[in-house]
Amino acid sequence: MKNLNGYIRKLEKGMEDKLFFLKHIDIEEYSLIVEFGCANGRLLRRIEPVINKQETKLVGFDINEEILEIAKNISPEMTFTSKWDEVLNYLKETKKKSLIIFSSVWHEISADYHEKIFEEMKKFSCIVIRDMKAPITGAEPIDAPTRERIKKMVPEWQFKEFEDKWGRIDNKKTLYRFLLMYTYLDNWENEIKEDYFSTPWAEINWALEKDFSIIYLNSYTLEYKKEEIARIFHHTMHDITHHQVIYVKK
Ligand SMILES: C[S@@+](CC[C@H](N)C(=O)[O-])C[C@H]1O[C@@H](n2cnc3c(N)ncnc32)[C@H](O)[C@@H]1O
Repeated sequence: MKNLNGYIRKLEKGMEDKLFFLKHIDIEEYSLIVEFGCANGRLLRRIEPVINKQETKLVGFDINEEILEIAKNISPEMTFTSKWDEVLNYLKETKKKSLIIFSSVWHEISADYHEKIFEEMKKFSCIVIRDMKAPITGAEPIDAPTRERIKKMVPEWQFKEFEDKWGRIDNKKTLYRFLLMYTYLDNWENEIKEDYFSTPWAEINWALEKDFSIIYLNSYTLEYKKEEIARIFHHTMHDITHHQVIYVKK
């Protein structure tokens, strides 16, 4: 990644929102907390002050070795790994409940792995997921002046590359995709390939509903994003951008 530090700074922005689950579960009941797709471990570091370190183990799992090195350097006391078997060993040893967090990662997971990951997540007592969700009225057309206004505010090449990849910004879904993506210039080469609205929310639910109950569910417009878009593009986001859910084992 060209500018890993810039990318990491962007991830920090939604951190308060990513910690939503702390208000809805009793964190003291958990002796293992795994973050799937932990990046540099920032979310785990925000959880660290609210757990009893003698009783609860924090584990960060990621496929990106480069970012895991950064995580290990910042927090040598925490466990970071790219080996899923290692995570499963901690799970076997855990004395109390186990929690797995998927924060802004499901949309990056290739569909080939979905079934496998459903099976793995079912091994935990509680599952927290937060990711982007397409606007409900995504097919709604966008007028030409709105498209022109947005086009003027970003580099010409960026707007063109986006439309070449995702189609003309003439409907709400494509507009929202752009408004969520445009800011990641540091990592644009990779970011543009990501299908932000690909989290299989319904499939996740089908996979889990037999064994898990939903204790929290929320579809919403990410507040800081809404403010940023109003400030920069003079456009009000009325529709949803994100989704949060907490499942606990029945
Ligand atoms: C957008 S970042 C989110 C980081 C952090 N969870 C947060 O919310 O700030 C996504 C992270 O997931 C990792 N990732 C993507 N696919 C993965 C997979 N199949 N297994 C593990 N990690 C994955 C990426 O390497 C990246 O570090």
